[in-house]
Amino acid sequence: MNTIKVSEVVYREDLYPRFKPNPSKIQEYAENLELLPPIEVSQHHILIDGYHRWKAYQTAGVDEIPCVITEVKSEQELLMLAVRRNAAHGQQLTQEEKKRYAIRWWDVLPDDEIIETLSISRNTFLRWTRDKRREKEAEQKQRVYDLWMRCETQERIAEQVGVPRQTVADWIANFAEIDPEADSGIFRDFEPELYTVWNFGKATNEVRHFGNIPPEIIENLLYYYTKPFDVVFDPFGGGGSTIDVCLRRKRRYYVSDLNPIPARPDIRKHDITQGLPDDLPVPDLVFLDPPYWKQAKGKYSDDPNDLGNMDLERFLETIGSIARDVKRKWRADHSGKLAIIIGPWNVIGEFVDLPFLCYERIAKYLTPVQRITVPYNTQIHGGAYVKLAKEKRELLYLTRDLMVFER
Ligand SMILES: C[S@@+](CC[C@H](N)C(=O)[O-])C[C@H]1O[C@@H](n2cnc3c(N)ncnc32)[C@H](O)[C@@H]1O
Repeated sequence: MNTIKVSEVVYREDLYPRFKPNPSKIQEYAENLELLPPIEVSQHHILIDGYHRWKAYQTAGVDEIPCVITEVKSEQELLMLAVRRNAAHGQQLTQEEKKRYAIRWWDVLPDDEIIETLSISRNTFLRWTRDKRREKEAEQKQRVYDLWMRCETQERIAEQVGVPRQTVADWIANFAEIDPEADSGIFRDFEPELYTVWNFGKATNEVRHFGNIPPEIIENLLYYYTKPFDVVFDPFGGGGSTIDVCLRRKRRYYVSDLNPIPARPDIRKHDITQGLPDDLPVPDLVFLDPPYWKQAKGKYSDDPNDLGNMDLERFLETIGSIARDVKRKWRADHSGKLAIIIGPWNVIGEFVDLPFLCYERIAKYLTPVQRITVPYNTQIHGGAYVKLAKEKRELLYLTRDLMVFER
């Protein structure tokens, strides 16, 4: 047995079962110190058991108190010990207090331990913690949904959320069950384009990024070419407009980029010149908004694999191989769409028809289904350049092509 200074005993109200101190008991104890068993404290001298005995030593003005020191690993464990010890000598907790402890402990300690410590039935325990368990399940479901929307695999979702694989599979089956009419609800507030000139007003992107495209482009593609919870693959994620639109219109997304921006943790890092990502599910819509070759030279990175930094042949080869790989991925039983938006390289005295060249490469593998003209919504040429163009009688380009293909 040890002794410690009475003044070193730490009484933590939050780590001791609630009770009403009994002054006459303290008085009685103070007159019979030699009969009292030692108090119990933790290695940090926090009181586990013996409040009245400790007060009795203070009352009697004795400096040192006999004690047992118990090592505890956490405050949680300390509180549980305190509850058990005090229950053992008649300091019973009220039902209300037991309920409070059950709710406080249920998520950190094994159920059986709580049931034993509080000496309550399993049914009572389950009843008291029902709301908490429901709350937790709702949170877990939301996390599973979020991860499923960003196309994480079921294994990874189970691991990250801490629920069994089968539960993940059941919940997902449930999310995906949606009646075919639901899409009209999802697009209730949306006015789709009717014609093949898509001219949008001011940019409305949630995260600004060089080369942001108007989110309405993706929105219209989703409207015309996908169903709820289809998978959209965007390997040139940039500022992540695709993610916002997919979440709003309930499409799953796999969005990657050579240089994901920190503001968008759900853009994955992937260099598309190395082929499609290994864990990409079969996509229903592939959306390509690459750097428009030289126009974006050095704008995103100095990486030689950046499509803004390569020579024209390698640029076109990359676009072609994406189309080839996507077709392979679709196999015979899956039909999807691939859309690419691109404008020409057109400076005074030099014209490279990038949309036409990309079309040639993609059409080797896929069949064109639509071609849409998308004017820029801001004046992209500076004043001096406009003046020069006028002098030279050269046209300034202001449009891009959005081309849609399928198998
Ligand atoms: C025109 S931006 C995309 C903009 C995006 N659609 C938006 O609205 O924010 C082109 C993106 O392609 C990325 N990129 C360039 N080369 C790449 C490569 N080899 N693999 C993956 N991404 C690449 C760039 O980092 C850049 O973010």
